[in-house]
Amino acid sequence: MRLPPESRRLGAVLALLVSSVALGAAFPAVLRIPRRDPGVSYPPRALFSHRSHESFGCYGCHPSTFPQQTLVGFTHQEMSEGKFCGRCHDGRTAFAIPGTACTRCHVDAR
Ligand code: HEC
Ligand code: HEC
Ligand code: HEC
Repeated sequence: MRLPPESRRLGAVLALLVSSVALGAAFPAVLRIPRRDPGVSYPPRALFSHRSHESFGCYGCHPSTFPQQTLVGFTHQEMSEGKFCGRCHDGRTAFAIPGTACTRCHVDAR
């Protein structure tokens, strides 16, 4: 059976609504990065703001620099080798990590 054009259009609109709601739920504006070694409790786990990085577009970071959907902990050693946040926070694309106040990223729980 072929659906009349109107109901097909309605179906497409509904599908779009459902998928954008799902994306909204799975797309936190701000998230806390897990700790590689959960035994290390200080400083508080780093915060990352999707909102302040939105100019890069999703493919600017996913899946190359950050495997989407899976939160992965990492270390300053890896960032200083240019991985994860260190891909941009190298003093050229964005502020360097050494010399920046720890609390700029390691924000306390509020
Ligand atoms: C540009 C953001 C940023 C700044 C600035 C920053 N960190 Fe981090 N740091 C992170 C991220 C991201 C992680 C990985 C998630 C986590 O463990 O909090 C991390 C992890 C850590 C870890 C656990 C992993 C490891 O490498 O040992 C410690 C300890 C740490 N940071 C201490 C510090 C201290 C101390 C300072 C200030 C001298 C600092 N950080 C400044 C982003 C930052
Ligand atoms: C500047 C880099 C960057 C950009 C651009 C970016 N993300 Fe992310 N995203 C991250 C980081 C960092 C994490 C946490 C990764 C980790 O802990 O391993 C993350 C995690 C996620 C997660 C998993 C969240 C969770 O709680 O499990 C989703 C979903 C996601 N991003 C969607 C998006 C979408 C959609 C866009 C585009 C609108 C986007 N990201 C753009 C860096 C970015
Ligand atoms: C694709 C490049 C890119 C990646 C990857 C990236 N950043 Fe940024 N980030 C930027 C740019 C560009 C700015 C704004 C310019 C500046 O402040 O030097 C910025 C700004 C920030 C700021 C200041 C604005 C705010 O949100 O308070 C923080 C903090 C920050 N980034 C943390 C992180 C952390 C933590 C990670 C890794 C989880 C990360 N960034 C990964 C490019 C990036």
